[in-house]
This record gives sequence, C-alpha cells and structure tokens, in this order.
Amino acid sequence: MRIRMLKFIVVLAAAFLVASSAICAQDANLPHLEKRGAATQLIVDGKPFLMLGGELYNSSSSSLEYMKPLWPRLAAIPLNTVVTPLSWELVEPAERKYDFALIDGLLAQAREQHVRVVFLWLAAWKNGMSSYAPVWVKQNPKRFPRVMLHNNEASILSSIAGFSDATRDADARAFAAVMQHLREVDSRDHTVLMMQIENEVGVLGDARDHSSAAEQAFAATVPAQLIDYLKAHRETLDPELRALWQQQGEKTSGTWTQVFGDTARADEIFMAWNYARYVQAVTSKGKAAYNLPMYVNTWLAGEDTTPGDYPSGGPQPRVIDIWKAAGTAIDIYSPDLYAANFSYWANRYHRDGNPLFIPETRGGTAGAANVFYAVGEHAAMGFSPFAIDAFSEGTTELGASYAAIASVAPILLEQQAKGNVHGFTLTKEHPSVEFSLNGYAVQVSMDEIFGNHAESGYGLIIATGKDEFLGVGKGFRVLIIPRSTSPFKFGYASIDEGIYQDGRWIPGRRLNGDENDQGNYWRFDSRSIKTEKAVLYRYE
Ligand code: DGJ
Repeated sequence: MRIRMLKFIVVLAAAFLVASSAICAQDANLPHLEKRGAATQLIVDGKPFLMLGGELYNSSSSSLEYMKPLWPRLAAIPLNTVVTPLSWELVEPAERKYDFALIDGLLAQAREQHVRVVFLWLAAWKNGMSSYAPVWVKQNPKRFPRVMLHNNEASILSSIAGFSDATRDADARAFAAVMQHLREVDSRDHTVLMMQIENEVGVLGDARDHSSAAEQAFAATVPAQLIDYLKAHRETLDPELRALWQQQGEKTSGTWTQVFGDTARADEIFMAWNYARYVQAVTSKGKAAYNLPMYVNTWLAGEDTTPGDYPSGGPQPRVIDIWKAAGTAIDIYSPDLYAANFSYWANRYHRDGNPLFIPETRGGTAGAANVFYAVGEHAAMGFSPFAIDAFSEGTTELGASYAAIASVAPILLEQQAKGNVHGFTLTKEHPSVEFSLNGYAVQVSMDEIFGNHAESGYGLIIATGKDEFLGVGKGFRVLIIPRSTSPFKFGYASIDEGIYQDGRWIPGRRLNGDENDQGNYWRFDSRSIKTEKAVLYRYE
C-alpha cells in the first residue's frame, strides 16, 4: 500500500515537473522587452519586432461586425499592429461574470490578417474619467468612491478615486482574469504583444482629489518608500523633480507640503504617487497571470497649463520617478504625442530605463515624417497614430512610410542595438541636422538641385559597414565627411536605389549625374520615399 502511494507521488511530481517546465519554456518565449546594446527592444518569437501600428477610435473594437471589414483595410495600410480598446464593462458586465467572446473574436480577426494586437485595458480610468467602468461599479459609489474637487460635496466627479482598496482589487481581479484568458488562448500564437493599463489617468478640474480618503492621505507624511527612492536615485532624478525637492531643502521626512511645497506641483506629485500605487498593483496582478510587457500612457501637459488642466498625477516626465518609486511592474511610460514639438517630448520620454513607445500620435503627413524620427533617433519600439480607422482608405503617406521602414526593419533593428541609426525630420524652421555615424560627421539638409528646393524632408540613415550606408526617406540630401582630421579625402563611390524583398537587396538604378548632383550629394528627392545605398571611396 505504502509503495503504491509512493509510486503515485513520484508520478504526480514528475507530471508536475513536465507541466511546469513546459509552461516555463512557453513563458521564456513570450513577447518581452530586452536591452540589446544601445536599444531596449520588443522581442517577439525570438526576434526584435518593430510595431508599425495604429490605434482605433475608442468604440470600433466593441463590435466584431463593425471590425470585420476594417481589418483587411488596416493590414493593407500596411501596419503590423493594431492598438485596440478592451473595456472592463464588456469583459465583466456583472460582477465575477466574465465574457471573453470579444477578445476571442478580435484575436481570430487579427490572426486572419497576420496583424498583432496591443490591448488597452480601459477600466477605472479613461481620459481621467470612469466611463468604461462596469455599471455595477458606477452605481455603487459607497463601495467604489469618486473623486471630489475643491473640497466641495457638490463637485463629486464621475471619476473613480484611486484611494480605495475595493476599487483597486476589483479592477485587478478583472484584469488578471483577462490575462489568464490570454495565457490560455494566445501563449502559443503571441498575437497580443503588450498591454496598456488604464488610459490617461489623473484628476481633471483640480490639482488633486479632495475626497475624504484623499484628504486623509494628503495630511499624512510622505511614505518612506518614496523618500528612499528619491535618496537612492538623487543623481538621476528628472531635473524638474530634483529642483523642486531641492527648493524645499531635500527633506527626508514630513507631509507632502513640507517635502514638496504648498503648490499645485506638490498636489500633482501626491496624485502621481497614489495613481501609481493603484496602477502598479493592477499591472502586477495581470503580469502574475500572464507576463506581457505593460505600459501606461499620458495626456501631456500643454504649455502654460497647471495640473488639473490635464489629468493631474499621470506620468508626465517630471513625475515618472514618482511612478517608478511606487513599483516596478510597469515597463514603459508613454506619451500620447499630439503636440507640435514632437522631438522635445520624444526626448523627455526616451531616457535611461524608459524606452520609447508612442501609443497615440498624429497620422497623416505629420505621422509619416515623425515615425522616421522616432524609430531612427530614439529606437522607438512602436509608433501608433490615433484614429487609424480614418487612415485606412486608399494609399496614404503614413502607409508609404510604414512600407519603406518595414522593408528595412531587420537591418534597422540590428543596427539600432549598435547605435548605428539616426532619424530626422526637416522643416523650413529646422532645415538641417548633423550627427555622427561610424566616425563620420553626417550633414543632412533639405534637398536642392538647380535652384529647386524641397519644402520638407524626413528619413533615416543607417551605417551598415565601414564605409557603407543605407538611407530611407525623401526631401533631403546628405554629405558625409570625416569627423577628425584624416589623411584621406572621401567621395561617393556608388549610390544605388533599390528595395529589400524578404531581406534580399534588389538593386534598381545606379544613381549618378543629376540624381547625386554630379557626385556631390547623396540625394533623396521630394517625389516619393526611396531606399538607397551609398558606398564611399577614399583617396590621398
Ligand atoms: C486621447 C485618448 O487617450 C484617446 O482615447 C482619445 O480620446 C483621443 N485622446 C482623442 O483625441
């Protein structure tokens, strides 16, 4: 009897080991972020993956019927990733009664078109409000309290407060159920690449929440966890945050106003800490069920605005450290980058420990140009204009950029890791850029020949060998000169146009004469996006 029992236990243990090692092998292969040299990349099926995507209008993906004709149009843009809402209200219409039919349907439709998906978990917050919470949450403000403005009962918002454990736990439980379901239906296909948690969180209409739980937390001392983080990361803190802390004497204890001042900026930090604690908790519950990369997006503060004009507490660059102090589950803090000063915001978000992913931005002409800058200059792992439904009619400028970038993506991703890529946009206000590549100074300016000037330009340049470069884009010309004093002079040995097909270079015309300004410039004229290779020669 004992021996039989022992045998049974051994068999059970062996089965458990086999099952768990199968799960581990599967998990090791899941989409994940990896630091490879100079870039942090999204690795999918063992290879770096560049998300050339688009975000749907908010309501499109609530209906499979509505989506059906849209998928082929999206795939034809061509994009490879659709960023799409997935709402708490549709996943858990009644408490603990989950409905995953929409998820399954969307995955089936995406797979048919060979397109990947990033889901937006629209739960407690969407643009600072709570319209996507299920009705059983909305109608129970006692259990799920709301944000209150200006200490005034009458100004209770239809925005859920982030101070209640009950709300956080209900949100996290639903999110974990979603992730568990994704593990069951997608851990082999990897159609889903990443998850966005909530959407543009923060308090609108005031710099902080004044509900009773919020007031109580605000009167208490700043948690030691946050102070410890500030002390440990003093040298690398965002300069604005560091300056604010220093102005108050770098205190290591005290209330929020004592440590950060009696201003709306201190209120913003307080809200950032509390939203961060909530969102980190939801994220980590989801990751425990199925470990995909997860990010949070930001409604950016406009010029001359104060917290509350935009959602106060969302991960603006100056409070990303506060979010990081609250936990490590969130992998990326992302800008919803509609602002005209694209490069300024890309620079603010692309920092050590925060790779660039742009979940929302402008499409059209602006998007067609900015995607080159984002992936070329900031190793962005993804780019996704909002309202992509609207850009899916016929040939688009964005589509031309995506097609050109997709064709060079394997080389781009390989060289990104080596720091061998630069991207740029040129306008009348900023008509030229210069950068170093392979020991050369590369000067890029608006294209010009026989007195005809380009109106704008954009592209990227990759160093592919010692004296070899690959360029993609339009409306610019390039001069490559040695960085330091060199005994050699340089010229263009050859410039070839061509295309990459399935990773193979198919050369087209040898460009000479007017096409390279008689050997003076590597040119990309304004007519259409081109892919060209340039090889230098040297002589004494
Ligand atoms: C940003 C939000 O995140 C989106 O859901 C959408 O509301 C857009 N703004 C509209 O421009």
